[in-house]
Amino acid sequence: MCGIIGYTTKSSNSVDVALSGLKNLEYRGYDSSGIAFYNNNELDIVKAKGKISNLDEKLSKMNTTSNCAIAHTRWATHGEPNETNAHPHHVGKVTLVHNGIIENYAALKEELQQAGYTFNSQTDTEVATAYIDYCYNKCNNKLQALIDACKKFRGSYAFNVIYEDEPNTIYASRKDSPLVVGYSNKGNFAASDVSAILDYTNKYSLINEDDFVKITNSVVTFYNDKLQEVSKEIKTATWDANQYQKNGYDHFMLKEIYEQPKVIQDIFSRYYNDCDYADIDFSNFDNIHIVACGSAMHASLVGKYLLQTYAKIPAMVEVASEYRYSEELITPKTLMIVVSQSGETADTIAALRLAKEKGAYVVGIVNAVGSTISREVDKCIYTYAGPEIAVATTKGYTSQVAIFSTLVLNAMKQKGLLDEDTSSKLKDELLTIEDKLNEVISNRNTYLDIAKDIYNHNDLFFIGRGIDSTVCMEGSLKLKEISYMHSEAYSAGELKHGTISLIEDGTPVISIATDPTLFEKTVSNIKETKARGSYSIFVTTDKHNDMNFAEFADKTVIVPEASEFIQPILVVSALQLIAYETAKLRGCDIDKPRNLAKSVTVE
Ligand code: AGP
Ligand code: GLU
Repeated sequence: MCGIIGYTTKSSNSVDVALSGLKNLEYRGYDSSGIAFYNNNELDIVKAKGKISNLDEKLSKMNTTSNCAIAHTRWATHGEPNETNAHPHHVGKVTLVHNGIIENYAALKEELQQAGYTFNSQTDTEVATAYIDYCYNKCNNKLQALIDACKKFRGSYAFNVIYEDEPNTIYASRKDSPLVVGYSNKGNFAASDVSAILDYTNKYSLINEDDFVKITNSVVTFYNDKLQEVSKEIKTATWDANQYQKNGYDHFMLKEIYEQPKVIQDIFSRYYNDCDYADIDFSNFDNIHIVACGSAMHASLVGKYLLQTYAKIPAMVEVASEYRYSEELITPKTLMIVVSQSGETADTIAALRLAKEKGAYVVGIVNAVGSTISREVDKCIYTYAGPEIAVATTKGYTSQVAIFSTLVLNAMKQKGLLDEDTSSKLKDELLTIEDKLNEVISNRNTYLDIAKDIYNHNDLFFIGRGIDSTVCMEGSLKLKEISYMHSEAYSAGELKHGTISLIEDGTPVISIATDPTLFEKTVSNIKETKARGSYSIFVTTDKHNDMNFAEFADKTVIVPEASEFIQPILVVSALQLIAYETAKLRGCDIDKPRNLAKSVTVE
């Protein structure tokens, strides 16, 4: 779940370039970092605990002249985040950075210990380094050593390796963790994703699972595991480096919240102008499994609700980490929809592979272009939300919901459930969502005001019914992730079955009621919490403007009324901003919350 980058160049600035690229990968992990480079044939390995800025500071006091460097930003899986466990690791002639987990490292360690190797760190990565060295000593061929070692490794990896006797060449390989090669006039790269190299080049190739790559400052050669050269397509990235900057916003999260009106509008415009997934025929399938993790799973719950309510198609949603180990009824008549912003989430990838093995047809709703999921699904629907850097997703989630809305519209059309009048009203609405979303987002003072009321509390509840209950789950996760406040999302009617015992004087309860048919029932549930002393924050639509909210609400957030195809997007944007303002008041690191990483590439 970390980020790796290697750079080899004819110039002597490899350390500066690798470090600047590494900063663009910091979203992937940030508990420690490190870099290795040869300076006059002497190996330097510099590591620092904490953010990359700590590493930067150390390097600024050193002579870092070098033609080749490999660097790493870590999200620890094996061993606490300290300098010993931080990468790069060095054993014998081999220095290496690694993203992933070597699951059988304990057995390999024993084998190596018997062969005389000793270990300093608690990591699986040091074992992988030693194993490659072990293989190199046996076969005396650098690529072959990497191939032999990889055959022994179980688990996931993306490696950048340098050998002591060829210090300006990077050897790379991957399995289940992402890695791309980048080409520039001044040198070549191997990095976890294209964002790391965009300041230097937009030319890149994807490394496949069975590729082994030799990268010098002028030539990149791909081999298969039989040491035969393989040809590789060179792609051109269409994103520009500017998208990876904050562009004046205090945080990436805020920037990404503000990008939502355009991102969502674009999804609906593409849908009405040039929908390339209208051919997914729902009548071909007996059952629909929607599988994802975290916020993508919350977006899936909205998708399920819309499918069942409007297209009358039953669907189930399962978290990928459970789905992959359960005996789900997957058949060739199953439509699986996997949802992932990064396209690299390990559990989601495993779930999709399981479904494909059993013959299901798999559709992916994915943001990251060229990611593993986008490549492995039968059909990829891109959200095209642009790079999302903040660890807490915002536009990632809302764009997934928007794609679900369009999928459900397709399903309704196919089943003859969308009459012309409704269709044209919906079209008018979806094509003007930008204004409504901008209206919600511009209401910043209200959100700050609410944040001031709640930021000193440690427990909070979100309640709602119907589609609002799924939105509560996302609102609650946003608050937990970035403000470290404990909160729970509950179906409003379920609270009294136990959890209401936690409500005491002043406990904040954020309730959502947008669905007019469930409005009164939710209000009753809010009153139940009020009667027990809750501080009530009420989120509703302008349809109910004439009501006297004071009876049950201490604070009210009003969002524009809309159909359920977009209402969750409007409501969640308000909740994102409440979480954002609250985290800010609590002095949290909003873009890089503790213990988290942007893409969870380990199980
Ligand atoms: C969202 O804020 C989270 N950080 C997390 O739940 C995320 O949605 C989840 O890990 C899934 O990621 P993906 O969409 O990249 O697969
Ligand atoms: N397993 C390695 C470690 O703990 C790499 C971690 C990662 O890829 O996040 O250091």
